[in-house]
Amino acid sequence: MQARARAHTNIAMVKYWGKKDQQLMLPQTDSLSLTLDKFYSDTAVEFDQRLTHDELFINGKKQPASGLTKVKRELDYVRQLAGKDLFARVQSVNHVPIAAGLASSASAFAALAAAASSAIGLDANRQELSRIARHGSGSATRSVFGGLVKWHAGDDDQSSFAEPVMENVDFGLEMMAILVDVHRKKISSSKGMQLSVSTSPYYSAWRTTVNQDMHSMEEAIHNRDIMAIGHIAEENAMRMHALTISADPSYTYFNAGSLKAMQLVHDLRNQGVNCYYTMDAGPNVKLIYDQQDREKIINQFSPVFGKDHIVVAKPGPGVQIL
Ligand code: PMV
Repeated sequence: MQARARAHTNIAMVKYWGKKDQQLMLPQTDSLSLTLDKFYSDTAVEFDQRLTHDELFINGKKQPASGLTKVKRELDYVRQLAGKDLFARVQSVNHVPIAAGLASSASAFAALAAAASSAIGLDANRQELSRIARHGSGSATRSVFGGLVKWHAGDDDQSSFAEPVMENVDFGLEMMAILVDVHRKKISSSKGMQLSVSTSPYYSAWRTTVNQDMHSMEEAIHNRDIMAIGHIAEENAMRMHALTISADPSYTYFNAGSLKAMQLVHDLRNQGVNCYYTMDAGPNVKLIYDQQDREKIINQFSPVFGKDHIVVAKPGPGVQIL
């Protein structure tokens, strides 16, 4: 009873920042992302009746029991769906800098959903896999699919899942990650977002603007309008980060390098290059642009951050069983 799966990370262009149900992992709002080809996780799952508890190895290293909460939550859901009471050995290899705002959890939990379902003999379709992945981490819900993906917030376990908006992206949309700092983030996304939900006075305004952003983003995608996609994504990201600064206690994922990267994007725009930024729960900055402008952007960023801190990513595929 074993299987292995590969899933790619995704970066949200309309962000998810807050749950309305922490047990079922239901988000406060819809969200929309791009799955990337460069960053992925390979996860192997083996259900074994000799095991007395779940085991997790990340990049070959056995994790302490305290590091298994989310994995157990997702495995429990799979066991419940399959009606089987077996413990699992999970081995995940991440080709993503862990917890640096590059969403390693999205690829890891999407790969876990596919590998665990297959290993336990559950015949799950992709919508079901996306619901299973949601129990590990919210953003993983979207990594089941390739390309541009929408996550319907829903209002119960059945109705909260992702679906593709454009799985094969047929225009020049690209993302570049500027690796400002690849160390583990200090405030986890789960802690940070719930602090924003419960203390930011701007939270209800966020819910309203996300609804508007979802509409305009889907229209911009339909029109293959990279300028509009980038503009909406940048505004949406900055409003999300306003929810961190306006929380009590206030916190931020920005560091000096993030601000420097944003400044370089503004400089590029002043020179007529269409380039936009987004940031997640870490200091790294992701740029959104048309692939034809890639070289100009690299030339702007490499003298400041170094070529080896710049990763170009194209739209990537959905989850696959290996
Ligand atoms: O589901 P998590 O814990 O990976 O949180 C994701 C939060 C953001 O990456 C900041 C936004 C998003 O929609 O992916």
